[in-house]
Amino acid sequence: MKFKNLLSLLYTLGAILVIAITYSFTTASIEKIGKEYQPKWQNLKVLPQDISKDSLMNLMEGYNKALGVKCSHCHAPSKNEPRKLDFADDSKMAKNIARGMIKMTHDINENYFKPYYPDPKPTHATDVSCVMCHRGTAKPKEYLENISSLYPVKETKEE
Ligand code: HEC
Ligand code: HEC
Repeated sequence: MKFKNLLSLLYTLGAILVIAITYSFTTASIEKIGKEYQPKWQNLKVLPQDISKDSLMNLMEGYNKALGVKCSHCHAPSKNEPRKLDFADDSKMAKNIARGMIKMTHDINENYFKPYYPDPKPTHATDVSCVMCHRGTAKPKEYLENISSLYPVKETKEE
């Protein structure tokens, strides 16, 4: 009888221990996931280092639409897995040009729009965007080829 009691006591303690261990593991991994939720980007040179995954993906999908391209227009294939893209890789010229474009668009909004708004000024001015110039193509110059025809022709009379 006594031996049986001891045994069930041991079982109970064992069960508590298992629950405690499982619990501490789960909380540990939840904390870990919580910390890992903010991704560490590998190679951001113009976008903020702490940009969230959602915001970055919104921007990237916006670039696809504004330029009428796919992610692979700017991102090169991975060397080890050629069917995947290596998003941190800088070997495509379009990606580097895009960096200048991102900075230019941001500077136009921050320096040439925002300061001239009446107070209270918006936190971010978003007047100029990629699509405003690109209109669904990577080469806006092409649709602007005949741009001179858009200017009204002035009749100049010689006197
Ligand atoms: C017009 C060019 C362009 C297109 C199209 C584009 N990206 Fe990007 N992407 C960039 C640039 C430029 C950077 C780096 C920004 C910087 O340096 O701050 C970047 C960075 C990234 C990064 C961060 C990589 C790192 O860790 O440094 C990811 C992830 C990414 N892009 C995913 C995508 C996905 C997914 C798509 C398609 C939905 C896409 N991009 C389409 C230009 C582009
Ligand atoms: C003020 C107008 C303007 C704005 C705003 C603008 N671009 Fe451009 N972009 C151009 C012009 C003009 C070219 C040269 C296109 C050509 O050669 O036909 C160009 C070229 C590019 C190229 C290289 C062309 C190619 O084949 O890939 C990329 C990439 C690009 N822009 C991305 C962007 C992104 C991303 C944004 C927004 C963050 C943006 N641009 C905003 C005018 C603009």
